[in-house]
Amino acid sequence: MNDSPFMRTVAHQGDDGDEPLCNRSANATFGTVAAARYDRRTILAGGLAAAVMAMFAPRLGTGGAARAATAPLLGFTAIPVSEADAVAVPPGYRVQVLAPFGADIDGSSSALRLDATGADQERQIGSHHDGMHFFPIDGSSTDGLLVMNHEYVEPRFLHAAYAGRELERHHVVVTDGVRDADEVLKELNAHGVTIARIARGTDGAWAIVADPRNRRVTGLTHMEIAGPVRGSALVRTKYSPDGTATRGTLNNCAHGVTPWNTYLAAEENWAGYFHNGDQKDGKPDLPREQSRYGVRTAQGRYRWELAAGGDDAYVRFDVSKRAEDATGDYRNEPNTFGWMVEIDPFDPQSVPVKRTTLGRFAHEGVVFAPAVPGRPVVCYSGDDATFEYIYKFVSSAAYDPAATDGSILDEGTLYVARFDNDGTGRWIALRHGENGLTEATGFASQADVLVNTRLAADLVGATKMDRPEWGAVDPMSGEVYFTLTNNPRRTEAQVDAANPRANNLFGQIVRWRERGGHAGTRFDWDLFVVAGEAASSRTANGAALDDDGIFACPDGLWFDADGRLWIQTDIGENAQNKGPLAPFGNNQMLAADPRTGEVRRFLVGPVGQEITGVVTTPDQRTMFVNVQHPGATTTKEDFAAGRSVSRWPDGGETTPRSATLVITREDGGRIGA
Ligand code: FEO
Ligand code: CA
Ligand code: CA
Ligand code: CA
Repeated sequence: MNDSPFMRTVAHQGDDGDEPLCNRSANATFGTVAAARYDRRTILAGGLAAAVMAMFAPRLGTGGAARAATAPLLGFTAIPVSEADAVAVPPGYRVQVLAPFGADIDGSSSALRLDATGADQERQIGSHHDGMHFFPIDGSSTDGLLVMNHEYVEPRFLHAAYAGRELERHHVVVTDGVRDADEVLKELNAHGVTIARIARGTDGAWAIVADPRNRRVTGLTHMEIAGPVRGSALVRTKYSPDGTATRGTLNNCAHGVTPWNTYLAAEENWAGYFHNGDQKDGKPDLPREQSRYGVRTAQGRYRWELAAGGDDAYVRFDVSKRAEDATGDYRNEPNTFGWMVEIDPFDPQSVPVKRTTLGRFAHEGVVFAPAVPGRPVVCYSGDDATFEYIYKFVSSAAYDPAATDGSILDEGTLYVARFDNDGTGRWIALRHGENGLTEATGFASQADVLVNTRLAADLVGATKMDRPEWGAVDPMSGEVYFTLTNNPRRTEAQVDAANPRANNLFGQIVRWRERGGHAGTRFDWDLFVVAGEAASSRTANGAALDDDGIFACPDGLWFDADGRLWIQTDIGENAQNKGPLAPFGNNQMLAADPRTGEVRRFLVGPVGQEITGVVTTPDQRTMFVNVQHPGATTTKEDFAAGRSVSRWPDGGETTPRSATLVITREDGGRIGA
């Protein structure tokens, strides 16, 4: 990492998914293997991606044979790309805005009050809506709990006092070396998770309904630590001297839904919120469990550590050593982040639990394979940073629908993926005492392996991927799909079959079929789609994407019950609507048919945002989709002058807000059909 103040401002504080590069391991990207494996003339003629697709396209995608339906999966009219400050959907579809940032979680008002206090924010919808699930109440398709993540905040659109100031995106105001404490509280409370009951009224419109289950989980909520890391010396802090608890969850990107109907929030780019000023010989001196993850050495992302008054809940983001041992300071606070957090939305008294067996990294989200009684529970999670890995968890205990709860996630094996160039792959166990993970290589215990998941994965030879984002499991075939959003840092020497492009600006979607069921350790993989324009893309059927389907930077991914694959894009704010990314317009959502490889554009969002989070009601007649950070590309000059590139969703001269879209069909039919 480059710690010059300039680089921090540009590459880190302007964090738009441009995660810090932390993987310095010599671990092969096996470009040399790829070079040996593929005929050079083939590569030169069609590119490695084409060579890979030609080799592997027929191998998978046969799940369609199991699909009884012969009717086309995609029944809507494609819409064009757009740069308009509006939400576009196909003819015959309707869109309503629900639960925007700042709306009251008791449903009393959805108006934005920029002068709301930090305490008010704890009873309001958070910002930067991301992963989301609809938990039906009694199986209803018109009444349920909407649970969603709030990945981060935009201070310019959060604080009334910031109006008229010349502020860059993500920047905060520091006066005489301190931050206003109520601003810090508001920012912490605008992070986390919202649980809100929503229902459809007789007029067809959805609204938040007051309910005892409505609550906010924030960057300050008390949480338990479970699994092998609980009680470890690595998580002892002043707040929890016995290493069993911590406060808050941050940068929750995508999510997961367990087979026992609870919600998992992923902690993604949490490392940048912390600052460690420790030095040795005039240089930063960070422990490996911080340096390998990108904890900052100059200042935290929002500088919460500078909060006026020195409240312990805020200054803990300075993790420099201050006391005799770890129980007197927050040197270990970053070790209590980077986990999957389980929340029971139906029990408002329940304490969120950090499930450490699933590993510590920049968790994008988690997706479960269908749970089978008598078999282990299996889930997949990507580490979204350049050259990081894809992981799988397999429980020790068997799934029992009548008895299984979250504790099944506390015992099991975490694996990391190796994608071989011949189209096969294997899962390598990150189990202390195996695969070289021993005292001799620096791992004292399973807790040590889990806190240092990335280092353990480096050691066992996992495949460095192009930023793994969401995963999804095809309900028809059981095949697992993962988005790899982009990786401009990959060089020609580093390409491999699963990550086949250097300077990868557009991303790809990889998929695999497990041999011997989801708990197995071998798989066969191919690329479902290599994203881009017509000239640079390739679908599973061997054709290029056409105007109805070009896209770049796949991120959100979800299968509906019919087997439609929904793909959401997140072109970063620094790249949207310009240069090589200009042809794709604003961020969008498409639907794909896994049988044919066809990709068709369904939705385009307003200016400056990303589209993320998608789920339907059980009857598939209402779809919820999140719009995150509209207006983010507003310049500091425009902000100072009261201008914004987006006024979505309220229009006029209003502040742009993240919000949820409710999508229905005029004829009441199933979405996408
Ligand atoms: Fe928060 Fe990886 O997108
Ligand atoms: Ca993003
Ligand atoms: Ca994402
Ligand atoms: Ca992203």
